Amino acid sequence: MASRENFGSKLGVTLAAAGSAVGLGNIWRFPIETGQNGGAAYIIVYIACIIILGIPIMISEFAIGRRSRRNTAGAYEALAPGTQWKWIGRLGVFTGFIIFCYYTVVAGWTLEYSALAIGNAFEGKTAEDYKTIFSEFAGHPIKPLVWMAVMFLLTHIIIVKGVTSGIEKYSKLMMPVLFIIVIILVYCSVTLPKASEGLDFLLKPDFSKITGNTILNAMGQAFFSLSLGLGCLCTYASYFAKDTNLTKTALNVCGIDTFIAVMAGFIIFPAVFNAGYQLQPSDVGPSLIFITLPSIFQESFSQMPIVGYIFAVMFYLLLVVAALTSTISIHEVVNAYIQEEWHLTRSQAAWVVTGICMFLGFFSCWSFGWLSDFKIFGMTVFDLFDFCASNIFLPVGGMLISIFTGWRLDKKMLKAELSNEGSLKVPLFGVYTFILKFIAPLAIGLVLLNQLGLFKLL
Ligand code: PFF
Repeated sequence: MASRENFGSKLGVTLAAAGSAVGLGNIWRFPIETGQNGGAAYIIVYIACIIILGIPIMISEFAIGRRSRRNTAGAYEALAPGTQWKWIGRLGVFTGFIIFCYYTVVAGWTLEYSALAIGNAFEGKTAEDYKTIFSEFAGHPIKPLVWMAVMFLLTHIIIVKGVTSGIEKYSKLMMPVLFIIVIILVYCSVTLPKASEGLDFLLKPDFSKITGNTILNAMGQAFFSLSLGLGCLCTYASYFAKDTNLTKTALNVCGIDTFIAVMAGFIIFPAVFNAGYQLQPSDVGPSLIFITLPSIFQESFSQMPIVGYIFAVMFYLLLVVAALTSTISIHEVVNAYIQEEWHLTRSQAAWVVTGICMFLGFFSCWSFGWLSDFKIFGMTVFDLFDFCASNIFLPVGGMLISIFTGWRLDKKMLKAELSNEGSLKVPLFGVYTFILKFIAPLAIGLVLLNQLGLFKLL
C-alpha cells in the first residue's frame, strides 16, 4: 500500500475535523430547525443528542479510521476481513458521493450571494424582489452551474494538494476566519435595539413545545451537522498521528460544532425579531437564508446601511468558508477510496470524483430550473439526493457503525486504540460501549422508521 500522509499537528487535526462538521448544516439548517421547533427547548434536546449519540459515534469513527489507516471502505475490510461489514464503508462512500452532488449546489449559491452582497445588490429592494432575485438565479440554466463548478474546483485544488498541504493547511487558515466572522456577526446582532426578544426565544425553554418530532429532528440534525454516518471522520482519522487523543478530539469537535450552531442562532434570531418578522412554515430549505434574511438585514440595519452592508457581506462569506471546509471533507471520503482501492494517484482520483460529481451536480442544480418538473418518486433530483442521503443513508450508516463498534470490534483492541496503547485513561468505557450496543442502534432505528413514515413517535 502506498505510504499515507498524516496530519502534522494536533491543532490541524481538530480544525480539519471541526471544519468538516461546521458547515451549511450549522448556519443554515440548525437555525431553521430551532425556529420551527420551539427555540431553546429544541437546543436542549439537540445538545442531549450530541452527548448521548454524537460523541460516542464520533469516537467510534475515529477509532476505526486510525486503527485501520485505510479509506472508510478499506477500514472495515481491514478490521473484519472476509466479512460483509465492508458494506458499511461502501455505503459511506456512496453517501459521500450523493451528498457532494447536491451540497455543492447550495455552496455555489453562497458564492453568488456573496457577490450580490459585495455589489450592494440588496439595497432598496422589497421582500418580493428578494423572491424574484432568488428564483431567477436558481432557475437560470447556466449561472448556478458556474458557481457550483467554482466550488467544485476550489475543493478539487485543495484535495489535490494533499492531507497536510491541502486539507490541514486550508482548515487552519479558514477556521480562524470563520470564528472571527461569527463573533463579529453575533456582536452586531445582539446589540440591535430589539435583540432581546430573539435572545429570549433562544434562552428561555418552553418545554411544552417538545414533541416526538422535535427529538427526531434534533437527532437527524446532529448526525448531519457532525458529519457522522458516512465515514468522513473515519477517513480523516486514518491520517491522525498515533498520539492523537481520540476522545479529547471528539469532545473538542462536538463542542466547536455545537457552539457555532448556537452562535448562528444568536446571529439570526435577534435580527429576525428586531425586524418584527414571524418565522413562517415556508421558511425552510433555501428560503430563510436566501430570501428572508437579505430583507431582514436591510430592515434591521436601515438606520446604519453601512453596517447592514458589512453584515450581509460577512454573513454570506461565512457561509462560503463553512461550506468549503465541509466540501473538502466530503470529497476526501470518496477520493481516499478511489485512490486506494482503484490504485490511482491522488490527482487522478480527485479528477474522477470531481468530474462525475460535477456532472451529476448539474442535474441537481437544474432541479430549480428547467428540470423542476422532472420527478423521481415525486421528488426533484436535488430533493431525492438530499432525502436519500440525510434521511436514509446517514442514519443507516450511523446505526451500523454503532453496531459494528459495540458488537463486532474486539473490546481490548478498542480500548487500546482509545488509550493510545495504554498511555491514556479511558473514563466511562463501559457507558460508551453500552450506548453503542443498545441505545444508539435503538434510537437511530426509531429516527429511521419515523423518516420513512413507518412509525410515529408520540
Ligand atoms: N457537517 C456538514 C454541515 O453541517 O454542513 C455537512 C456534512 C459534511 C455532512 C461532511 C457529511 C459529511 F461527511
